[in-house]
Amino acid sequence: MRQEFMVASQSNGNAPRIVALPAVKPESIEADAIVVFLTEGGVGSGAIAEFDTAAAGIVSRIIGTGEITGKRYECVPILAPNGLQAGQIVVIGLGKREELDAGTLYLAAATAARHLAARPRAKVVFVADGSWTSRQLEQAVAGAAVGMVGQDLYRSEKKRTPFGTTVWSNAPAATVDRGAMIAAGVNLARRLINMAPDDLYPQTFSIEAAALAGHAGVEIDIWDEARLLRERCHAILAVGKGSSRTPRMVILRYRGPVTNDDFPDLALVGKGVTFDSGGLSLKPSDSMLTMKLDMSGAAAMLAAITTIASMKLPIHIVAAIGLAENMTGPSAYKLGDVITARSGTTIEIHNTDAEGRLILADVLDVVRGMNPRRIIDAATLTGACVVALGNDVAGLFTNNQAWCDTVAAAARAVGEPVWQLPMYAEYDEQIKGEVADIKNVGDGRWGGAITAAKFLERFVGGIPWTHIDIAGPAFAEKPRPWTDGGGTGSMVRTLIELARGS
Ligand code: BES
Ligand code: MN
Ligand code: ZN
Repeated sequence: MRQEFMVASQSNGNAPRIVALPAVKPESIEADAIVVFLTEGGVGSGAIAEFDTAAAGIVSRIIGTGEITGKRYECVPILAPNGLQAGQIVVIGLGKREELDAGTLYLAAATAARHLAARPRAKVVFVADGSWTSRQLEQAVAGAAVGMVGQDLYRSEKKRTPFGTTVWSNAPAATVDRGAMIAAGVNLARRLINMAPDDLYPQTFSIEAAALAGHAGVEIDIWDEARLLRERCHAILAVGKGSSRTPRMVILRYRGPVTNDDFPDLALVGKGVTFDSGGLSLKPSDSMLTMKLDMSGAAAMLAAITTIASMKLPIHIVAAIGLAENMTGPSAYKLGDVITARSGTTIEIHNTDAEGRLILADVLDVVRGMNPRRIIDAATLTGACVVALGNDVAGLFTNNQAWCDTVAAAARAVGEPVWQLPMYAEYDEQIKGEVADIKNVGDGRWGGAITAAKFLERFVGGIPWTHIDIAGPAFAEKPRPWTDGGGTGSMVRTLIELARGS
């Protein structure tokens, strides 16, 4: 069933202008600011050395005073010397040259951009270095375009103003264009995550998705409550029962050029809990405060498939997103309830706060039925994963090591930190049901990220599958040098990289 909606999305309407220039002489650059990248140990050779020579040695002289070291993410604004047309220079540190990677460049460029975006700038020029790989340059371009966007959705006085024009000097246009598209995807996910839960709930999320899919030329199906019932999606329906906002499932399809395959090459699955109160297993107030973030997996998948479509990548992809609000209303699902998931597996509810895996059970079953070659899901699934890996690293879980290695390689290529956790069969014991097939929590809280993954594994039917728990990296509670905080757009870059067949 297809539903038509009015376009409610401001989406990528006012996309910032990002352009490429061949190498230009520093003295001829007219801009509000020039950003140059410095590794530890001095200007050396390359773009920054040329810049330094043209700028009367200003960078090397300040390095001599010890004020600039090139340490990772050190951001030093200096006045441009006479002879330059630019107003100011920002020197941004990259750390050790031999450790330089795409992730460092993404965060360094974001740090410089965030600093400069504190005031309006008509034009900012970033000087790329010829020694960077095209992936590294792409990620630097993306980082700059992400860093200049703040967390200002609801602020009457914005803290950040995106630059009128961003120029990348010394950079091929095609690479810069791809970086800009990647950034648009990341910023889209961030915007959705940052939306207040009373603005973004299952229905409005699906309206946003319809608008974005329309722009990107992606096919969309929206399953409302009636359709979910007909499809026997009793797990996702159970989670939504405590809310006046009914659940949705959003299914998006993109068929790229040169794919004549009947089956999707890749299925993307996202957890979209638009607010997680914990349900009757109510969360304490402090842990509930940021639970609008609980649709970050869904946002990542929507952003990834629309960006992949706008990049016209040659792949056939389906994305399926489960949307529900986990609340405590009079019809809320209860502890001791037994639910029959779409696959027929019966699940006893021991904790209504373990809702993400229930939603994913039905979505994974829908996707399994499409027979994709590989499945990947992203979910803010467990606090246990944050305990294990901290705030910046996503957890990987798989039933197929080769597929997991591919995912990890893509994440590494774009600089998103991930770490695999084990899936020993012994953990299966923990989710055996007392009265039903399985229960929705493990025995006690130890290994909670893994027992959650083991639960999901039940619903993928042996298809190569990798699960990414992004409970840590999806959201920055505090500002960091490269972000004002809020949604980070975690895994959007990795998913796009995956679709490129890295
Ligand atoms: N959405 C949470 C997980 C989460 C926690 C995400 C912190 C981001 C930051 C999830 O639905 C949840 O509540 N998980 C429980 C599972 C438990 C009840 C087995 C948890 O982690 O405590
Ligand atoms: Mn929960
Ligand atoms: Zn949750």
